[in-house]
Amino acid sequence: MHTDAIGWGPSGWVRVLDQTLLPGEVRYLELHTVDGMVEAIRALRVRGAPLIGIAAAMALAAEAEQRASVAGLTPAWLDAAAGRLASTRPTAVNLGWAVERMRRVGQGALARVELPARVAEHLHAEAQAIWDEDAAMCDGIGRAGVTVVPDGASVLTHCNTGVLATGGIGTAFGVIYTAHREGKGLDVIACETRPLGQGDRLTSWELERAGIPHRVIVDGAAGWLMAQGEVDLVITGADRIAANGDVANKIGTYGLAVLAQAHGIPFYVAAPRTTFDRSLASGDLIPIEQRAGAEIVGPLPGVSAYNPAFDVTPAEVVTGIITDKGVLRPPYAAAIKRLLD
Ligand code: MRU
Repeated sequence: MHTDAIGWGPSGWVRVLDQTLLPGEVRYLELHTVDGMVEAIRALRVRGAPLIGIAAAMALAAEAEQRASVAGLTPAWLDAAAGRLASTRPTAVNLGWAVERMRRVGQGALARVELPARVAEHLHAEAQAIWDEDAAMCDGIGRAGVTVVPDGASVLTHCNTGVLATGGIGTAFGVIYTAHREGKGLDVIACETRPLGQGDRLTSWELERAGIPHRVIVDGAAGWLMAQGEVDLVITGADRIAANGDVANKIGTYGLAVLAQAHGIPFYVAAPRTTFDRSLASGDLIPIEQRAGAEIVGPLPGVSAYNPAFDVTPAEVVTGIITDKGVLRPPYAAAIKRLLD
């Protein structure tokens, strides 16, 4: 299933839903340059680990198509554009992976001295393939994840992981959506996800559109709800998973995982294969994006803030990792190796 978070515009354009305006306003941006997409990704107009990879790939294809007609589709342009896109957000590994895949396809076609229009066609097809594959992986995550969701479960989730964050039905949201469609009668608790409100602005929008019963809570209420027996399981997404199973995800995920363990509640992470980074042995090597303090405190004079956008949850407190190829269980190093081999 494809969604309306992103799409191809007129020839050489990419259309993205500006997520900073949701849920109040549904406005699309027509982007026709890599630098336009760089700004959109940095500003979180388009966001979510798999979706920023897809968006970056589509922007490369779109600008390549325009450059093909003016002899501007060169190896130097492709390398520089790929580099600018890859450096926009450091934590989500899907972004660097998608951009590198596009760069290789483009450089390969240029090295074979194919006609510029043909090179651009290859890039367009590759971007579409990255999108299609992500949509299919989301469906697989949904099918695999439904097996861990009991009937009538109250599921707590964090940040946003659905159609606004991926190329399909979502990662953690894909599990929730599939379980709901199978009639499991879920009740979803969405953490608001300070400071940018991906939970209260975006996940609640997705839940509403899907007709799934839900409540939004402030991030600080999660522990208390667990203590009251109101949470049966936690499912979150991931931005990067190290070779040992340590998981980087939206700031606050680590606290939820530790709270879940303290209350004997299963804590699952849902992610496609593109979110694993086996070049990193453990989570302490994952780069953590630092964002402006103004996102937390606004323009308050004299107030300084510290705003890491992600944290790392150690593999020891993760009950299972739901992938498009099934649910991984500890020990994760061996399970991840089997998955990726
Ligand atoms: O900063 P964001 O909004 O891009 O963060 C998104 C998340 O942390 C999601 O949980 C994550 O990308 C994985 S699920 C698609």
